[in-house]
Amino acid sequence: AENMLWGGRFTEGLDPLMVAYNNSLPYDKILWRQDIKGSIAFARANLNAGILTQSEFDQIVAGFEVVAKEWEEGRFEAKEHDEDIHTANERRLSEVIGKEVGGKLHTGRSRNEQVATDMRLWLRDELRGVERELQDLIRVTISRAEKEVEFIMPGYTHLQKAQPVRWSHWLLSHATAFASELTRLREVIKRVNLSPLGCGALAGNPFKIDRETMATELGFSGLLHNSMNAVGDRDFIMETMQWGASFMLKISRWAEDLIIYSSLEFGFVRLADAYSTGSSLMPQKKNADSLELLRGKSGRAFGQMAGLMMTIKGLPTTYNKDLQESMEPMLDHLPTLHNSIQIATGVLSTLSVFPDKMRAALAPEMLATEIADYLVRKGVPFREGHHVSGRVVAEAERRGIPMDQLSDADLRGVDERLDADVRGCFDYDRAVDLKDAVGGTSRGAVLGQVEELKRIVEGR
Ligand code: ARG
Repeated sequence: AENMLWGGRFTEGLDPLMVAYNNSLPYDKILWRQDIKGSIAFARANLNAGILTQSEFDQIVAGFEVVAKEWEEGRFEAKEHDEDIHTANERRLSEVIGKEVGGKLHTGRSRNEQVATDMRLWLRDELRGVERELQDLIRVTISRAEKEVEFIMPGYTHLQKAQPVRWSHWLLSHATAFASELTRLREVIKRVNLSPLGCGALAGNPFKIDRETMATELGFSGLLHNSMNAVGDRDFIMETMQWGASFMLKISRWAEDLIIYSSLEFGFVRLADAYSTGSSLMPQKKNADSLELLRGKSGRAFGQMAGLMMTIKGLPTTYNKDLQESMEPMLDHLPTLHNSIQIATGVLSTLSVFPDKMRAALAPEMLATEIADYLVRKGVPFREGHHVSGRVVAEAERRGIPMDQLSDADLRGVDERLDADVRGCFDYDRAVDLKDAVGGTSRGAVLGQVEELKRIVEGR
């Protein structure tokens, strides 16, 4: 253990399995850039505080340039006793510039603040990428909605044919959900982007370090204001994963709709070959694997969130090594989000849509509500109109014909207030355009939603 950074007080070595068990370098090395950036900002603050001389600071920066190059070119050699990215970088720095100066870098600093700083820097940049990808997904959805606004399809409740809607209305129903997620994400990023640097192991920094300047250098938008909280808090990851789980759930429902709509029985849409796979046994199969994976990965994202929450539950205040277990799920969560959003965007932008199939799936019974509404316009109470319309449906069923095939006499037979002009109800396009209140499926209302969504996506 005397090889370890903290080895001073130890007399016996670590169990070899314990070395491996404890070692996070295999995965946290992905943070090498953030770790070096954070160390340089920390060194500069110590220079300004009079802890390091200019020459010492310059040596540290030059040393890190060498270390960074090694990482960049895949030449960095991990040693058995590198526990994590922080110890690995510091160990290597001291090899490059000598222990005399290298050994001063960590003055007043703890890996507890260092790991939180590195993760926040990494996560902030990743989440900004997610924000851009999500904006793209919404933009693609919006532009399809504008272009394909004339397509009318069955709208479903309980997966039963309910009322006709515009295809664009369906598209925008999901874009609206994505846009709330976008708004939430922007909030999450604000809280991720706060600096723990200068908080020490738990109690703060004794060397008059200027935390504000350090935070600014690292692009943080503010400070964490309690050092015990700063080193023991993983809310920034938890909130990210709560966001990720919630977002993936939205994507999962979107995917589920498209899986249904792309089945032969529906045939409303067809996935591009680029996002489908075949069967090794059944030659005719073209499966919507991209969508099924989106649905499946939402379970994985949720699991990571739940796992992290269980890891944090019941930990004593400040840093405990359990917190190292927040790293791997975080490192998997973000690529899952990036990939999922880009796959969804790819699926949607290459999707073939079949408006004739959509129209063919409309059924006159989906206009039954129109008859009730027709009677309402004649002054009949809605409840009564609903009842009359229900009897029209029953009459058509009894005769074994679609509702719109009933004769004028049949209709009047059901209720004398059903004049010949009730036939105007049997018109899908009209039914759709009557829903013209804000948020409805009329052409105008749908285009209104487009404008609202553009405002949110572009952050206006
Ligand atoms: N690698 C650790 C982590 O990911 C940071 C090290 C802090 N360790 C410590 N024993 N104080 O959480």
